[in-house]
Amino acid sequence: MRKVQAPRGTFDVLPDDADAREAVEREARRVLEGAGYRRIETPTFEATELFARGVGEATDIVRKEMFTFEDQGGRSMTLRPEGTAPVCRAYVEHGMHKLAQPVRLWYLSSFYRHEAPQAGRYRQFWQVGAEAIGSDDPAVDAETVVLLADLLDALNTHGVRLRISSLGTPETRAAYREELQAHLRAHEDDLPRDVRDRIDLNPLRAFDSAEAAPVMREAPKLLDRLTPEDAEHFAEVRRLLEAADVPHEVDPTLVRGLDYYTRTVFEFESTELGAQSGVGGGGRYDRLVELIGGPATPGCGWAAGVERILLAADRPPVAPPPVDLYVAFTDDAQRAAALKLAGEARRAGLRAQMELAGRSLKGQFKQADRVGARFVAVLGGGDTELKDMESGEQRTVAGESVVREVLRGRGIG
Ligand code: HAM
Repeated sequence: MRKVQAPRGTFDVLPDDADAREAVEREARRVLEGAGYRRIETPTFEATELFARGVGEATDIVRKEMFTFEDQGGRSMTLRPEGTAPVCRAYVEHGMHKLAQPVRLWYLSSFYRHEAPQAGRYRQFWQVGAEAIGSDDPAVDAETVVLLADLLDALNTHGVRLRISSLGTPETRAAYREELQAHLRAHEDDLPRDVRDRIDLNPLRAFDSAEAAPVMREAPKLLDRLTPEDAEHFAEVRRLLEAADVPHEVDPTLVRGLDYYTRTVFEFESTELGAQSGVGGGGRYDRLVELIGGPATPGCGWAAGVERILLAADRPPVAPPPVDLYVAFTDDAQRAAALKLAGEARRAGLRAQMELAGRSLKGQFKQADRVGARFVAVLGGGDTELKDMESGEQRTVAGESVVREVLRGRGIG
């Protein structure tokens, strides 16, 4: 029969990959919980409306990348393409405005986007993310950036560069949008088709197009149109980043693929990643909570792709943890005793494996060697033969003292 395969753009996390991913989780927990963030997990799917309103109808994500389906009750549902709108929904739904602000939440979850798969770009991927909701203090922006810089550093992510900009308020952006549209229309002949097609819908994305670069170099920049308050906010974020020794480049052409951003936006890239160079990004979203029906509440955060971090980071080879005891037996009558001994050993804190494939005694020693077992116990009905695989020494011990002997041999007893 034809083999069933994993869907395009998805991948299996195999045991050899799991250790490196756990390291990301461990470091994320250390860095973020150390700064007062607490973990949150939201549902894998949400009402489609949450993303349509939150992320924005005009974005590529909402227009063409969402896995949307109708549930049995005829309601439109979507596999989460990102985590910020769901976290804000949870903030509103659970009345978190009553807690001390800002409420700091982090997540490590899977996300879904129907993108053209390539290295570093998948249809199911994992993000580690952090959201600080309830304060518009520029220190929140600076601290979130510092936390992501620290996380990438702790994981030895190579060739990292940080770009930062400010998008101001939606009102500033609306006025600027018209100005930019006029510039794009005046140079329509020099623009690639996809940029021309988006002049009405999403003109800011023109900054993302390499082919449009000559026209965009001459384009007016939003950063030059900020209100005095927004410009001051951005200047303070930069001052704080400098004081924290976080190197960054101001890039007025930085646009992000989600519509909820206000004021600060930033992106960490790595030279190790090729075309999909974004390791992590985020920014401030002061109108998002209101957009999804909550009280006016500012927020700021980021998300970084777990797979992209791992692609750009050192991955020390991981050896499976050593096994303390391998329980061998040749007579099926000993199977129950082997199961019991392995269980006792584990409860005593040892790593213990029992024979599970009916091998010959020789085969069992080979297997014990393969898994790096320090001791092998051979059950025979009466006493047990205990072999120290390191010294080669073999002794007969009473069944009930096997665990104690191994603990002693491992320096634990
Ligand atoms: P984003 O830039 O769309 O932002 O995604 C954040 C990170 O997720 C990217 O930098 C990238 O590493 C990873 N990523 C995105 N799409 C894919 C994909 N198809 N395959 C593999 N990795 C991917 C957000 O999602 C915002 N929610 C970030 C944020 C949080 N802003 C404020 N708070």
